[in-house]
Amino acid sequence: MLPYKTLIPLDRQSATLITTQIANTLIRLIRQGILPANTKLPGSRAMAGLLGVHRKTVITAFDELTAQGWLVQQPARGTFVSSELPDIAPRQLTGTPASAGLATTTGYSFRIREQLTLPVLKNTNMLMFDDGFPDVRLAPTAQLARNYRNVLQRSFQQRLLGYADTNGDLFFRQQLAHYLHDSRGIPASPEHIFTTRGSVMAIYLLAQILLQPNDIVVVGKPNYRSANLIFAERGATLIHLPVDTHGLDIDALEAQCRQQPVRMVFVTPHHHHPTTVTLSAERRIRLLQLAEHYGFVVLEDDYDYDFHYASSPILPLASADAAGMVVYIGSFTKSIAPAFRVGYVVAPPNLIEALGYYRRIIDRQGDTVLEQAIAEMLAEGDIQRHLKKAQKIYQQRRDVFCGLLRDRLGDAVSFTIPDGGMAVWTRFNDRIDLTALAAACHKQGLIIGNGRFYQPDEPVVHHTRLGFASSTPEEMEQGTHIIQKVLATLVP
Ligand SMILES: Cc1ncc(COP(=O)(O)O)c(C=O)c1O
Repeated sequence: MLPYKTLIPLDRQSATLITTQIANTLIRLIRQGILPANTKLPGSRAMAGLLGVHRKTVITAFDELTAQGWLVQQPARGTFVSSELPDIAPRQLTGTPASAGLATTTGYSFRIREQLTLPVLKNTNMLMFDDGFPDVRLAPTAQLARNYRNVLQRSFQQRLLGYADTNGDLFFRQQLAHYLHDSRGIPASPEHIFTTRGSVMAIYLLAQILLQPNDIVVVGKPNYRSANLIFAERGATLIHLPVDTHGLDIDALEAQCRQQPVRMVFVTPHHHHPTTVTLSAERRIRLLQLAEHYGFVVLEDDYDYDFHYASSPILPLASADAAGMVVYIGSFTKSIAPAFRVGYVVAPPNLIEALGYYRRIIDRQGDTVLEQAIAEMLAEGDIQRHLKKAQKIYQQRRDVFCGLLRDRLGDAVSFTIPDGGMAVWTRFNDRIDLTALAAACHKQGLIIGNGRFYQPDEPVVHHTRLGFASSTPEEMEQGTHIIQKVLATLVP
């Protein structure tokens, strides 16, 4: 008998079903001639024993391959490789994309950290209270398209179509430096700026450069999950410190620093993700003092600085950092639209240089034409005008949404009205199963997160972020009505 156990390796960590793995491997073995026509396969019970799986799993795989014409099942005789193999591409196994005869799984196994496979929300045509996405229908696409075309048409700028500066287009960095100075009080020059494809890329590159395995990274509990994943992938040890209504607990941070060396503190001080609280002025000063005293890096992710509704926003930590302890990250993905992947890092030039070396390994440069188009929008004030308009609309939507949550959902939810950002950190009361609620809402046409993304390690989750910026008041009406109806069926 063939060594089926070796021929059909199973990866139990893989997101692909075991049945699908068995079926796909059998197809490959048949195609490669390792299992020629008319070969008798072990019975389902024997095969299940060899592979260490449930018999039903093998039966399902055999049935699928029989339906596709790869196998023939003969009553009382057994299962055979078909003598008339399908000469066209096989019908695809459930859930796999159509491909003209290409393998549907690798012929080898590999591991992927299970945490990385947790689903993330993406835009669809359904109603959605998302993680806090901007309303892409408001995006200044006409100006962007005009500028993009102009940049492409200017023949004297043909250099823009070639290989360029890894650190980002110089005109973009010049305009951004002015913008950061005027809008946030950050006294950056182009040498202090590095362009990325969004904030996440910035966090990833910085983790590669600034962290070594086992370095301690302090984050809030809870914290922006993608950042946690990046640090964990780098091999860092994460210390989760409490977050209250004034932001990260700085007393707890000081106590931590006294115990063991902290390498980095990751903060989203303007509107903490996911809770939306703002780090108080007093804690900001102390955080900077501690950074200087203990020598840790402050990674300031200021992804939605532009959307603040209460009085005037507090300036970023980076604006008061003369000692070079803060690395500032920002992005245009929320202020224009997520599809336009332009973000940036502000840091001392020696770190900017290192970022260039690391980025080059995977991405020679950013989208230079897009950077120029955005730079012109900054120079002409288009972005600033768009932000002013969007901020007004989002503030109105926040008020409408919080009113609907209060009036429609009553004591099923509790929340603090956020001073800024694009989502409400909403607590559903203890009797509500958030996973069941999210699933039932989905069936009714509304997508909401079930909260696991924000607190994956908690046994029971009561909080989720409900984004308001991307929905019109009518859509919020419809969406909250769905939650109200579903709650009535879930919590009698
Ligand atoms: C705290 C935080 N940082 C960064 C990002 C990612 O931004 P970008 O699209 O620029 O990568 C997000 C996205 O929601 C976020 O919530």
